[in-house]
Amino acid sequence: MRMSELIEVLSKEEIAKSVTEVGAVISHDYRNGTVAMVGALKGAFIFMADLARAITVPVQIGFLGISSYGKSSESSGTATITKELDLDVAGMDVLVVEDIVDTGLTLGFIMDYLKSKGARSVKVCAFLNKKERRSIEVQVDYACHTIPEGFLVGYGLDYAEDYRHLPGIYHLKM
Ligand code: IMP
Ligand code: MG
Repeated sequence: MRMSELIEVLSKEEIAKSVTEVGAVISHDYRNGTVAMVGALKGAFIFMADLARAITVPVQIGFLGISSYGKSSESSGTATITKELDLDVAGMDVLVVEDIVDTGLTLGFIMDYLKSKGARSVKVCAFLNKKERRSIEVQVDYACHTIPEGFLVGYGLDYAEDYRHLPGIYHLKM
């Protein structure tokens, strides 16, 4: 790993602050219920752990393995389930937890999947909202940070499986 290619965009401290704030907003919005948090693997694993602890109402935790093919230039971007959801969300208020929403294709797929599982409501919390390449309309209800552009790594996000463990968010100069 060559650290010189990484430019810090968000520090560990800035991340902790934004996650705490978003957790408080979510706790308020779901004050009368239980939040069924569904994390999209693998990228969301670190954010999920921090966000769950920033939420003060009862939560249940589930993970969904998803592999995205939305990156190629062909517009028929699709995704496949690599691990079935391990939480019964029928009748539940689901909060999808994503590391980053880019084109929106992965999120669109997850939304359809969760509705087919009988969720009562489905909202979305993304750690990063990157809008420059959005190709389908998706609603991101909660976002910790909006990032204009670039390829980002750290805090769960990878490049070819590297850099996920970094505590900050870095712009990877390729
Ligand atoms: P989308 O389907 O284009 O919205 O892409 C969503 C997925 O692509 C995310 O869950 C990430 O795994 C990956 N991704 C998109 N942008 C980035 C990035 O800047 N860094 C790392 N992974 C990314
Ligand atoms: Mg991902």
